[in-house]
Amino acid sequence: MSDRIIIFDTTLRDGEQSPGASMNAAEKLRLAIQLEKLGVDVIEAGFPAASEGDFESVSQIAKKMKHLEVAGLCRASKGDIDKAWGAVQHAVRPRIHTFIATSDIHMKYKLDMTREEVLAATKEAVSYAKSLTASVEFSAEDGSRSDPDFLCQVFATAIEAGVTTVNLPDTVGYAIPEEFGDLVRYVREQTPNIDKAVLSVHCHNDLGLATANTIAAIKAGARQAEVTINGIGERAGNTSLEEVVMAMHTRPNFMPFNTNIKTEQIHPSSRLVSMITGIIVQPNKAIVGANAFAHEAGIHQDGVLKNPMTYEIMKPETVGLNANKLVLGKHSGRHALRSHLKEMGYDLSDEELKKVFTKFKELADKKKHVVDEDLEAIVTEGILRTEDTFKMQYMHVSAGTTVMPMASVQLEINGRSVRGAGYGNGPIDAVFNAIAQLTGTESELLRFSVSALTGGTDAQGEVTVRLSENGLIALGKGSDSDIITASAKAYVNGLNRIEYLKEHPLKEAQHV
Ligand code: KIV
Ligand code: ZN
Repeated sequence: MSDRIIIFDTTLRDGEQSPGASMNAAEKLRLAIQLEKLGVDVIEAGFPAASEGDFESVSQIAKKMKHLEVAGLCRASKGDIDKAWGAVQHAVRPRIHTFIATSDIHMKYKLDMTREEVLAATKEAVSYAKSLTASVEFSAEDGSRSDPDFLCQVFATAIEAGVTTVNLPDTVGYAIPEEFGDLVRYVREQTPNIDKAVLSVHCHNDLGLATANTIAAIKAGARQAEVTINGIGERAGNTSLEEVVMAMHTRPNFMPFNTNIKTEQIHPSSRLVSMITGIIVQPNKAIVGANAFAHEAGIHQDGVLKNPMTYEIMKPETVGLNANKLVLGKHSGRHALRSHLKEMGYDLSDEELKKVFTKFKELADKKKHVVDEDLEAIVTEGILRTEDTFKMQYMHVSAGTTVMPMASVQLEINGRSVRGAGYGNGPIDAVFNAIAQLTGTESELLRFSVSALTGGTDAQGEVTVRLSENGLIALGKGSDSDIITASAKAYVNGLNRIEYLKEHPLKEAQHV
């Protein structure tokens, strides 16, 4: 049996189903480019039948990817499969990923279908998908809670109909590693034609066991792992790519498997996902959290100085940390900026480059070292967010120990400039009040947090806000070397995301 594990990344599909993690088409494309650089084998670019926007963005990604496989998710119905195929067909390597639930509880209450009907639908869907393309994946939704014998029967039917990958999801994050490993072993033993397909697993993290379950499954013979960057995804999230990959990388004796992942691209990918989705990585998150390589205790620090391996099981450089290169200085020209951005995956038009160059110069004047993450923030905020309803044009704040904080703000709303002012308990409160008044927002500010984007006292501050309006929740991010400006940008960004959600209701994409 091969020791190569196929890494199937679903950050753009299941990851996007995280509450508040909506991404626009340009952001998704940027992330897909980074995932290709990271070395994933397959990306699930979206769920094309969910909305026009999803369809468009999957087809854009499909056309752009150079060598990785691009999958489109679809239910086991002809209409959905047609949409998925329509979106991925121009990929160098397209994949249709169709699914149907196989647990008794899902079949009875969600699908209102019998086992026989599910078997027939599986056969029909896979045969149809297979008539369109060679690479077809079938998922047995809620597989871990399905009757194991029925699961094997469904997989056998799918394989008979031509599927190339069968996926066993732990949809509700219910499995326990030993039990899940046993189930994978059982499926391998009891599905007669299993050798004709790759066996995949897809775990959710409701009990915090997604990585452990995925590893148990790989040890039991699964050869594809479905994962997301930073473990984002529906509810408690999906298996995190970085954890599974680095576990195998760090413990080869126990797990003699290999992947195509360029581990030094892990940290840049994590940062990008966080920046685009607005979902902050918890500081103690394995591999990519801010504290993952920080040693606080004196004894530990002493040990690490003498020999890093005393307390570090991985080198930070291996996952792309400390790789913050000085990229460009304040004397760098437009040409150097363009070629560096190209290396990062941004192919900008002259007009876009002009905008980024102006922002870069402004930042280089204020900040000594401009690193990749700064450039990423400039492009993400200035270029990828083209569909914004609200754009900040100008902001002025007066505050101090003896004056009431006051802010005046000018926004562009639907192409028209509007100006207003607001008072507040502090300068940020004043800016937020002015913006709220101008936009007429009914949203509530649920959370506000500030962190430093890069090290040093001249670091850019990064502000994250969490907003809620009529059941819609959105995160907004903004960065600037001035914390009040960063806050204003984050607030405007959050409001734009709420507007985006109003037009693209998440429910449309929430199929399971
Ligand atoms: O969790 C799940 O079951 C899924 C399937 C569609 C693969 O996301
Ligand atoms: Zn899932």
